[in-house]
Amino acid sequence: MSKKIRLDCISCDKTYSYDYKSFFCDCGDLLKVSFLKKPNLSKEQINARSTNFSSKCQSGVWRFKEWHLDLDESSICTRLEGNTNLYQSDLLSKYTRVANLRIKHEGENPSGSFKDRGMTTAISMAKLLGYKAVACASTGNTSASMASYAASCGLKAFVFIPDGKISFGKLSQSLAYGAHTLQIQGNFDDALTLVQDLCQKKGIYLLNSLNPYRIEGQKTIFFELMQQLNFEVPDWIILPGGNLGNVSALGKAAFELKEWGIIDKIPRFAVVQAKGANPFYLLMSTESDSLTPMIPETMASAIRIGNPVSWKKAQKVILNSNGYVTQVTEQEIMDAKTMVDRSGIGAEPASCCSIAGLKKLQSQGIIKTNESVVAILTGHVLKDPDNNVKIHTDVNSDLCNNAVKLSNDMGEIEGVIDGLLG
Ligand code: F0G
Repeated sequence: MSKKIRLDCISCDKTYSYDYKSFFCDCGDLLKVSFLKKPNLSKEQINARSTNFSSKCQSGVWRFKEWHLDLDESSICTRLEGNTNLYQSDLLSKYTRVANLRIKHEGENPSGSFKDRGMTTAISMAKLLGYKAVACASTGNTSASMASYAASCGLKAFVFIPDGKISFGKLSQSLAYGAHTLQIQGNFDDALTLVQDLCQKKGIYLLNSLNPYRIEGQKTIFFELMQQLNFEVPDWIILPGGNLGNVSALGKAAFELKEWGIIDKIPRFAVVQAKGANPFYLLMSTESDSLTPMIPETMASAIRIGNPVSWKKAQKVILNSNGYVTQVTEQEIMDAKTMVDRSGIGAEPASCCSIAGLKKLQSQGIIKTNESVVAILTGHVLKDPDNNVKIHTDVNSDLCNNAVKLSNDMGEIEGVIDGLLG
């Protein structure tokens, strides 16, 4: 590894070995993975690996391994993640008024969210570095993913979640996969501060996205997207922003592929935040040069984050890609979710910020009708089942699709069905 990569500070000139124990530079800023020489991986190799079912490189993360973490197969802990679909939807094109829209559904990963891509790389690193236990703070998806990967490769897992603030689907995953699940008073940001201290004190490996090896795995959303689009770069990529690891990862992937001569342009990145959890939006829409933390509130619980740890990395991606940051209201998120669900694709609320944000940016003329756009859906529709049922039992909503209660009587049933058939 030491011949292939090292860790660089994102702000100053300091560099560290790949096995450096902290994720922070002495100056206080985050570290990122740098490549010591241009990786050697051809498009043909990538395509051949996709269909080699005897290799761990059939994973939608590991078939790109030279572009992130070039481990031997024996060191890889994988659930054959990635390989997520790229959809087109007439309904969502009409809704957003963007004809050339593709939707990459990262909720189709093994634990139901994009987190699996960064988890497989970072947990493989935990094993390589000799750790016996891993931990994370989470709004629910990182913890579900970590619990699953820790179980599959025999590591002890400690999950810190904000008490009462994550969806039941996600909480149940952490419990089912056997992670020690600690519900703490306070929000995600409080939990992240606590877990960082704990990991340092107890020699536990931290698996939040401030871990640079998480970011390396998450880059593969972009790599796989490029493979699916035959390396033709879309005009825009739009995604939700919480702790801002994901946009940092996709941006890093794009800049690296451009530098290595694999693609010829950088897409514009658009990040969408919920209005009640919008510190990055506020930073980017004012003259301020540092992020002001806030107390976050939104029903899109996955992105209920007020002090995003990767904001400096994300800021560089937005500025260097001529990107954009927008915010959407709770109503806009719910409306977009209803459309995403009705399109037959389905996703959890935070994911649907991509579609809500796209609709807004199109209506403001920032994204043009004829531009090509890829919207990332980050989590599965079943992640937040309570919310799904709640939307459709709200009789005040036009889109309410409440279950019809009937007796066990064919006459009554036929009457209702005839009415519905029109
Ligand atoms: N969408 C979903 C479904 C998420 O779970 C998250 C983050 C995001 C978007 C935002 O991504 O943080 O990289 O900007 N979830 C984390 C968690 C924080 O703990 O599961 P980001």
